[in-house]
Amino acid sequence: MSRIAVLTSGGDSPGMNAAVTAIARCANMLGMSLLGVDRGFNGLLGKNPEKDFIDMSLENALDIADMAGTQLRTARCLEFKQPEVQARAAQLLRDMDVRGLIVIGGDGSFHGAQALCHQGMPCVGIPGTIDNDLPYTGMTLGYDTAVNVCVDAVRNIRATSRSHDRPHVVEVMGRHCGDIALQTAMATGAEIVICPEGKRWTVDSIARRLQNQIDQGNFRTTIVVAEGSWEEMAPFDVYEFLRPYGKQVFKGEPMTANRFASVLKRKCKMPDGTNPEVRSTVVGYTQRGARPTARDAAFAFEAGVRAVDLLNRGIGNRVIGRKSGIVFDEDIDKALRARRPFDRMMYNIINAL
Ligand code: ADP
Ligand code: F6P
Repeated sequence: MSRIAVLTSGGDSPGMNAAVTAIARCANMLGMSLLGVDRGFNGLLGKNPEKDFIDMSLENALDIADMAGTQLRTARCLEFKQPEVQARAAQLLRDMDVRGLIVIGGDGSFHGAQALCHQGMPCVGIPGTIDNDLPYTGMTLGYDTAVNVCVDAVRNIRATSRSHDRPHVVEVMGRHCGDIALQTAMATGAEIVICPEGKRWTVDSIARRLQNQIDQGNFRTTIVVAEGSWEEMAPFDVYEFLRPYGKQVFKGEPMTANRFASVLKRKCKMPDGTNPEVRSTVVGYTQRGARPTARDAAFAFEAGVRAVDLLNRGIGNRVIGRKSGIVFDEDIDKALRARRPFDRMMYNIINAL
């Protein structure tokens, strides 16, 4: 019986388990056995092979499809960037009669898969990241779930913001990609969105726009900020600005959603001359730990089946994607070179209010 393996790597993403279930089902159908690798590329370091490889027969894989997180666990493994470690990992897999590996993860994990391909181990990548930062595909596992979590959060926040006449800063994840923020803003009617792709922005420009909303009678503006946007903010001395107000902030500390809300409060005025009570929420890891939406779980199934089919036909060096409702596979090197333009038009329209 031929054997393949699967690992999940990088930040976990909703749908990883569903993909593993689909892989196990398809492998079983094709008469292949499946090994699960524990904790991403860490499991390929050969430190503890007895524990690092888990039998993923149907018995172990069938019940996990709708679970959040990743049952195989995940990790970040810096050692794996070293070519000699990659060569040993490929040899370890060959020694275990593994003929191909499926890597479920984001951009970094795909670089790991690419390295293993160069070491002669056929790999197929499944895009698993909430960030949606793999431009060759229109969809990554977990992104839809993360957006839904953020939309729910913003809807709830807007309800209480309306009740109290309070603006609100909502920070969402995405690393250097603003897609979660942009999609959330579009879906909720948020008045302001800040994405890293929008490049340099200033605290004062946002304060002016918030003031403009207040002047128009909108006292519950939602400002959705992608976490990567803080790095694109023009220098602003949070310490100098907030210290006179008795706020606990130490010299050199960075801007955060909470501090941004505090700054905006002090820079804006309500019609009666008081400062608006600007509040903040960081949606955080609830985005990653949610159960996959139907859209993510269904893509996980399609991607898992396609990945096994490729390896069964002896084809590696590919990654799976989905665009316009169609699942496809693409050369891994080409996929990693892909660049996607930012949807500046939508960004500007949201921010034009
Ligand atoms: P993601 O896959 O979500 O983008 P990371 O960027 O943290 O997450 O990458 C996950 C793991 O992939 C890293 O911890 C490392 O083991 C592996 N990896 C990342 N970059 C490379 C690289 N250039 N070469 C080999 N392995 C890499
Ligand atoms: O890549 C997924 C992601 O959740 C990013 O959105 C976020 O910046 C990062 O991982 C957080 O990583 P960690 O789990 O190491 O805090």
